[in-house]
Amino acid sequence: MRTPVIAGNWKLFKTISEATTMVAELKPLVAGTSHVEIVVAPVFTALSRVADVAAGSNIHVAAQDCYWEEEGAYTGEVAPKLLKDAGCSHVIIGHSERRQYFGETDKTVNRKTRAAITAGLTAIVCVGETLAERESDTTFAVIEAQLTGGLADLSTGSLKQVVIAYEPVWAIGTGKTASDAQAQEVHSFIRSLIARLFDRSTAEAIRILYGGSVKPDNVRGLMSQADIDGALVGGASLKADSFAGIVNFAD
Ligand code: 13P
Repeated sequence: MRTPVIAGNWKLFKTISEATTMVAELKPLVAGTSHVEIVVAPVFTALSRVADVAAGSNIHVAAQDCYWEEEGAYTGEVAPKLLKDAGCSHVIIGHSERRQYFGETDKTVNRKTRAAITAGLTAIVCVGETLAERESDTTFAVIEAQLTGGLADLSTGSLKQVVIAYEPVWAIGTGKTASDAQAQEVHSFIRSLIARLFDRSTAEAIRILYGGSVKPDNVRGLMSQADIDGALVGGASLKADSFAGIVNFAD
């Protein structure tokens, strides 16, 4: 059985004090939840303080990006081992906003993913098609290229440290969720692709999250789909009560 992952991507929101307050509020709301891996991803500057507040709870901390080198003359970058040092267990890699605004490519996603795994982090690798790509019927080809490139040269064993997030770009921040069936269709494609690229048992074990306008009132339908193993949540993860409503989808 795959343990679902509910991850909150806070993007460029929240000061250190807002982020730590939110985690302190979230803790009691999710304290009884043992069947879900809960992850929050604050900005870099808040990671260490949020990790301190989350310590000993069932809330894991993720960064929103990383670099692939361990150290060196790379001004402005943060290495995976430093994320570990700050208390992170996860890192989001290849979010569509990074692909769109910061020149992220499947090649850089691959380098970052390999470095994150080497450092002992779980990589949440994001893929997803734009509206134009969906409308021109290239969704599967786009996802296949993103995953084939992004997961290139990874050992089958290292896939235990990978979670895939399918986030259709047209559903992010738009209030337009993919229908349960639309999401399931792509998730099922991703699982069969992982079986082709790696093997069947790896494909059965890997968690595939859906992201794009997930809210407390649509999470249940998505989670009832056979190949949807969790959610990567933006806007609705910014408040403790709505994020807890998503975490506790089964209640
Ligand atoms: P929204 O939930 O705000 O649509 O954002 C989704 C997302 O990009 C999570 O990474």
